[in-house]
Amino acid sequence: MTAASAPGKVILFGEHAVVSGAPALGTAIDLRARVLVEDLPGKTEISIHGLGLRLSGFSVDSDGRVVSLGSSDEAAAAARYVSAVVKALDVRDVRITVSSEIPVASGLGSSAAIVVATLAALSHHMGIDMEVKSIAAEAHRIEKTVQGGLGSPMDTALAAYGGYIQISDGVTPLDLPQMDLVVGCTSVPHDTRAEVARVQELRSRYPEIVDTIFKAMGVISRKAVPCIKDLDLKELGRLMNINHGLLEAIGVGTRELSELVYAARGAGMALGAKLTGAGGGGCMIALPKEGMCSRAITAITQARGRAFVVRTGCNGVTVED
Ligand code: PMV
Repeated sequence: MTAASAPGKVILFGEHAVVSGAPALGTAIDLRARVLVEDLPGKTEISIHGLGLRLSGFSVDSDGRVVSLGSSDEAAAAARYVSAVVKALDVRDVRITVSSEIPVASGLGSSAAIVVATLAALSHHMGIDMEVKSIAAEAHRIEKTVQGGLGSPMDTALAAYGGYIQISDGVTPLDLPQMDLVVGCTSVPHDTRAEVARVQELRSRYPEIVDTIFKAMGVISRKAVPCIKDLDLKELGRLMNINHGLLEAIGVGTRELSELVYAARGAGMALGAKLTGAGGGGCMIALPKEGMCSRAITAITQARGRAFVVRTGCNGVTVED
């Protein structure tokens, strides 16, 4: 039996701009996907349990069909990623059990964490020694295949390496201190592909305007690095607020997201807040003032969000025998 786990993520700065080559900064969080591999002679079975604390007890086969205990699009989607890893490694005669604490379809890197943890658990089970670098590269390739060619390497790199990652010309792991953030999820699922397409369409209509905004986002991503290093949280919060305004300018904000952002900022509970990821739904993040985490959570909950604290800079993929 082999077990592996990998973390989810939040994008701190530079989402959308990164698609057009500007730098972005993301961090691994302390919500994880766990994958268990056991021998199962004559069969290959994938079971998905407890996705994002919301589902339990679904079993699906390696083609992603739910085979027991009801039906769920989310479980089937997770199983498609696991099946893609099974195919890539050409494995059989195993039972793969996936459980995850990472909310799905929220921009928190749930599918990347599942792909990375599955790759690590299966390769280890087969006696193949995959380095973290190869896990990150292979996971990005598999995630893109399942998603139809979309996506920066941010999610899979963070799931593999953990910590903080800057994406600009390639993937750069950064050694930065941990912080607490409050995540607020709207109940609106986000659709990364649709949001990226909308932003790129806006860019082709107004290239000078959108490229100028992307450039500003890139400057923010770079400026944020020394702020985190020195834990200059006031400055970091201001950068988050500016980045949120720029994301609104390119049309990926929503009323629900901004309600959570303003609720967190209200009454001075957060030093800064912004949407995170593709937008159009999904989640926002807030940087709480010292001792204000639970008040920020209450404010977001009162604004009809689901809120929780996450620790940034967490460990990447881990294998346990
Ligand atoms: O949907 P998410 O949170 O995984 O974020 C997508 C981030 C984008 O910059 C919009 C797209 C990408 O591939 O980087």
